[in-house]
Amino acid sequence: MMGDRTLNELVGQYFRQQQEVFGNVFYTEKEKSTDSTINVLFQEEKIPEKEKEQRKIVISDEPTDLFTDEPEWKKTKSLDALYEKIHNCQNCPLGATRKNFVFGTGNPQADIMLIGEAPGADEDEQGKPFVGRAGQLLTKIIESIGLSRDDVFICNILKCRPPDNRSPFPSEIDECEPYLIKQIELIQPKFILALGLTAIDTLLKKKNKMGEIRGTVQNYHGIKMVVTYHPAALLRNPGWKKNVWDDVRLLRRLYDEYLNSKLKI
Ligand code: URA
Repeated sequence: MMGDRTLNELVGQYFRQQQEVFGNVFYTEKEKSTDSTINVLFQEEKIPEKEKEQRKIVISDEPTDLFTDEPEWKKTKSLDALYEKIHNCQNCPLGATRKNFVFGTGNPQADIMLIGEAPGADEDEQGKPFVGRAGQLLTKIIESIGLSRDDVFICNILKCRPPDNRSPFPSEIDECEPYLIKQIELIQPKFILALGLTAIDTLLKKKNKMGEIRGTVQNYHGIKMVVTYHPAALLRNPGWKKNVWDDVRLLRRLYDEYLNSKLKI
């Protein structure tokens, strides 16, 4: 459906093109004209100043996707603007079953982004990521390396809850991952901590084994990426806590190196 603003933009764009080609003269076809096919509707020098002002065409600077394939959300310049454009998303069936779109929370200029799998029941209820039991454990993990949730940005591969906490379908990931990529583009983190294999495999575009990949530093399009177990897995297997502790200390070490290198500049 074409909204009013879009129609205005279309009209504005038409007049701007006309103005670029013909200057401040607006030509129109004469009705039932016999002697001429064009008619000068108004010409700058003949219009009194006051009237000229009234006739000014207001052209919106708002982006429009009418003439390109690029959706408006891709052109947004802030997380707030992105949220506004995507939080009513219905690109996959999860849009119909979610209570809340879970965009992500934290520092919009964070150096570190934490990426999980998908909202669960508590996150769907509250519209915030990692607020249930796994989330409380994640808060402790973040605090264990001297940071708080407000220092980092936390989000998920999927923004909507899969029913019964099932794993995301590949088709859902395909629809939703572009939103995450846009978030990364806007935040420009220096580090990513990927939580669990769904996040790791999605970001690295291949199947991985946690036992092999954890403890390494991956390159996500120039961003250093540390990977570890999902906190929900940790709740089920407390024996993995030592591994997670090692992984987040690795992240902290890399982050300290980065902070120190910034001090030297
Ligand atoms: N598990 C996730 O992957 N993300 C959440 O936000 C909550 C639980």
